[in-house]
Amino acid sequence: MAPGKYVANKITIKWATNRSQNTPLKIQAICRKSYIVTLLQSVAIIRARRQFMIKMNNIVKSFGGQPVLSDVTFETREKEIFGLLGPSGAGKTTIINILTNQLDADGGSHSIGATPFETGLMLDEDGLYPRLNCLENLNVFAGIYGIPRNKSMEALKRVHLEDASRKAVNTLSKGMRQRLALARAILHEPTVLFLDEPTSGLDPVTARGIHKLIQTLRENGATIFLTTHNMDEAVKLCDRIALLHRGKIVEQGAPAEICQRHNAVKTVPDLEAVFIKLTGVELE
Ligand SMILES: Nc1ncnc2c1ncn2[C@@H]1O[C@H](COP(=O)(O)OP(=O)(O)OP(=O)(O)O)[C@@H](O)[C@H]1O
Ligand SMILES: [Mg+2]
Repeated sequence: MAPGKYVANKITIKWATNRSQNTPLKIQAICRKSYIVTLLQSVAIIRARRQFMIKMNNIVKSFGGQPVLSDVTFETREKEIFGLLGPSGAGKTTIINILTNQLDADGGSHSIGATPFETGLMLDEDGLYPRLNCLENLNVFAGIYGIPRNKSMEALKRVHLEDASRKAVNTLSKGMRQRLALARAILHEPTVLFLDEPTSGLDPVTARGIHKLIQTLRENGATIFLTTHNMDEAVKLCDRIALLHRGKIVEQGAPAEICQRHNAVKTVPDLEAVFIKLTGVELE
């Protein structure tokens, strides 16, 4: 064997030629074995992480000494639509801000099984450039993501805004602006998508269109995390939900399961009744 070095698992082993001994070969074999074990362990970790795409463990957060989140713990599985359901001020946006590292928690841990570039985000503050038109807005982000500009028009088509592609953002209706923010969130085909009240204030037809798009994105492999205070939306769209009240998760699971647990006599899932039973307040 020629003199050389073998790099495995960040360990570099150098050896000199000694044809009478087969030690270097042994070392090489051991290193290969440890490398394979490490590789298999990494695959197992990635798999475990991927089964749970989004995790929060015992997150706490206060603003100015006022507790906003207390011990928030949940997991979102790969390729599911997970809904965080709660009234205004419950802490939904704060949870998204922490998960997407825009805000630090005071305690607990969280993780996402995707890189920032594999993550899409639509917040209630859309952050669009008001004087640029729709296409120009998306082109700015196509540049940031390093993806071809033709993706911008594709994304506009997905939210039915292609006819408004040359309209300046400051001339769009609220619903159109919201759809543009959604187009921007899905532009780079993220594997994890955060949608903060994606249909709030929209007419039923536009809301239905967005529901359909969310379902298609999930069918194409995305994991969707959405917030809402619309129970019908949660029942219709979400595989699993968490009910949030004053920064605490009071219940979580599949909507039908939750309703059965707390509301067995009803044949149609009624999350509003469950929420009132658990918290004493209405959702909307
Ligand atoms: N930056 C901040 N500074 C101080 N308080 C904040 C801040 N952000 C959020 N809060 C407070 O934290 C609580 C939760 O706010 P959050 O925006 O997370 O609620 P939400 O469930 O998203 O409500 P909504 O449905 O109205 O969007 C509220 O009482 C809010 O006033
Ligand atoms: Mg919010």
